[in-house]
Amino acid sequence: MKENFFWGGASSASQYEGAYNKDGRGETVIDFVPGGGNQRVMLVRSGKVNINERSDQYLYPNLDAIDGYEQIFNDIELMREMNFNSYRFSISWTRIYPSGYEEEPNKAGVEYYRKVLEKLSEYNIEPIVTISHYENPIEVVRNKNGWESRETIDLFVKMATTVMTEYKELVRFWIPFNEMNAGEFMPLICLGTNLNSYKNKREGLFKCWHHQLLANALVVKCGKEINPDFKFGSMIAGMYSYPFDCHPENQMANRQQMQRIQFLLSDVMIRGHYPNYALKEIENNNYDINFTSDDLAILQENTVDFHAFSYYQTNVLDVVTPRDETAGNMTRGMKNPFLEASEWGWQIDPIGLRVFLNELYERYEIPLIIVENGIGVNEELKNDTVVDDYRIEYMQAHIKQMKLAIEEDGVDLFGYMPWGWIDIVSASTGEMSKRYGFVYVDINNDGSGTKKRYKKKSFNWFAKVIKSNGTDLENN
Ligand code: BG6
Repeated sequence: MKENFFWGGASSASQYEGAYNKDGRGETVIDFVPGGGNQRVMLVRSGKVNINERSDQYLYPNLDAIDGYEQIFNDIELMREMNFNSYRFSISWTRIYPSGYEEEPNKAGVEYYRKVLEKLSEYNIEPIVTISHYENPIEVVRNKNGWESRETIDLFVKMATTVMTEYKELVRFWIPFNEMNAGEFMPLICLGTNLNSYKNKREGLFKCWHHQLLANALVVKCGKEINPDFKFGSMIAGMYSYPFDCHPENQMANRQQMQRIQFLLSDVMIRGHYPNYALKEIENNNYDINFTSDDLAILQENTVDFHAFSYYQTNVLDVVTPRDETAGNMTRGMKNPFLEASEWGWQIDPIGLRVFLNELYERYEIPLIIVENGIGVNEELKNDTVVDDYRIEYMQAHIKQMKLAIEEDGVDLFGYMPWGWIDIVSASTGEMSKRYGFVYVDINNDGSGTKKRYKKKSFNWFAKVIKSNGTDLENN
């Protein structure tokens, strides 16, 4: 492993911070999305979330999340104890511009993240900052339908420019958007957009994506002017799938699915232009997307430097024979008879990580970084800890495959950051009980609990992995 390989963990503001109305923070779309497992999934998919008011009928777990806003400095001590040399987190847009529309940023928000970044710098923990992770100001969602509107581009670029200017001495690595491709599955959460008015939702999606792609390119442009040493990354949810068998129809269908949900957006952010399969989809379906020649030049001239992605599971596709289905990260796929799955049905596939790394690196030939990986488990605290050998096994297997990809296949990978290094609110299902962390947080689905942090067994294991730069993976 490279000497300066990034080992750390990842989280997002809306799942970690809470303190939804503290120090001038404005409300964001996720503050209006009820939790409750499948209930969240159904409400989001059907476009039936009430974005105007919260109801007593539901719980809204993101409002308080895991109290990270208050406990961040203690949590950074835990990161330090685990030997993190990097930390991926996101900035809450509405702490910087509470409604999205202000001319001047909210000083308290700007100063808050400065202190966090200064602390990380003191401990030599490299921040990898996501500028927008599933968070759009509620005012922008109500007035503009989020990313459906071209005007949202300017609002976002204003926010990004503010943070890049304010923190130019403290941050080198920026990820403008988390998982743009997830917009297809959770449009309200990812894009701040209700797509119900579209006969063909892909048309609405393309519109939103075009605006996000432009915003991404403009952030790269402004960022390089602020500090030419900044590095920018595209970030896409790993939704990799295999054709079930060698039936040519399955091969073709899977290839098309991968183009549509996996590669489309990173193809644009990395290569600087829409791939032909996307242009054909637009043309053949008469999508009304307003591409100007200026837009296309902006995309071409402002590509990213690295590619980041999440990886939890793989799916299987069979369009010939009906098969049992299982869940994945926002997607559904068919059961793979060779794989086990998590309690949430996500199929555990360490070799798939190596396959995916190879595919990405062959396609893009730019440095890659894994910014999310892990397993969600319903866990209980016993004797102030959780003996999570299953998590250690999951990570051992994934790290081994990641090392093979580097050492045997020549993939240029520069970091591994497990998701939810500390238990946080699940994004897709809005639960606390789906725990990913090395650190247990005493908060329950209904929000009760002491908010205290406890080290799980994997805490010391991962600290040792990092200390040995990935050479000592033993669980002892
Ligand atoms: C990723 C998201 O897709 O998956 C995270 O970027 C999310 O925000 C993670 O938390 C795990 O998914 P979930 O739904 O189990 O929280």
